[in-house]
Amino acid sequence: MDKALKSVLEWWDAAGVDVPEVRLSTPRRKATPPASQPQSAQKKAAPPTNSPSSKPIMDAAPIAAKAKTLAELKASMDKFDAGALSDAARQCVFARGNPEADLMVIGEAPGRDEDITGKPFVGRSGQLLDKMLASIGLTEDDFYITNVVNWRPPKNRNPTADEIDMCRPFLDRHIELAAPKVLLIVGGVSLSAMTGLTGIMKQRGQWQSVTAAGVEIPALPIYHPAFLLRQPVLKKDAWRDLLALREQLNPTK
Ligand code: URA
Repeated sequence: MDKALKSVLEWWDAAGVDVPEVRLSTPRRKATPPASQPQSAQKKAAPPTNSPSSKPIMDAAPIAAKAKTLAELKASMDKFDAGALSDAARQCVFARGNPEADLMVIGEAPGRDEDITGKPFVGRSGQLLDKMLASIGLTEDDFYITNVVNWRPPKNRNPTADEIDMCRPFLDRHIELAAPKVLLIVGGVSLSAMTGLTGIMKQRGQWQSVTAAGVEIPALPIYHPAFLLRQPVLKKDAWRDLLALREQLNPTK
């Protein structure tokens, strides 16, 4: 495969866009794998290093359930041993913004800047996200942001399913305590973690319903801003989604 095309596809894959595996897994060497080789063996993905399964981890569920306030939840997460994930990260990245806001934004996982500052979405993609929300009149006082995974995965790789599952009780409790009226699901990883759906290209802009502590919350999947930084042509779709979000938050009578 052409080198540039391969890196574009890999980048899309990392941004949560559904990319047919076969294209990413095209071997660079000339020999084609034997037909009998299972497809999984042809995939490029080596198992992620520092997977939390490499050492026993604490169970987040009883710890999350005990937290009666967001401050307690944060304190218990700061102390939580998330195995190799928290070993590799500088700190737990909890949230930023206004916990009383109607809108809660759910991103994927912290990156380098977030790991350093302890705040989600503060790097380049966070700056774009803030601009996107500002374009419909929302300031940091109008939204509250967290991620499906609260520790930076080593080398900014996507979080694994195990890592997402490990953090899930914290996310559920986080949503329950913040009690937002609307969720904004940012990127393909968050989409599948929150709804079980895959394919952000198809699902963006399609309202979903997420149940947290027995309450159904309307949830809008959008492109990840990191993806929009690489594909600015898609900002027109993002704009449509933002208008739909604004309408949901402030319905015109
Ligand atoms: N991307 C995310 O999904 N979350 C962050 O906090 C930063 C970048």
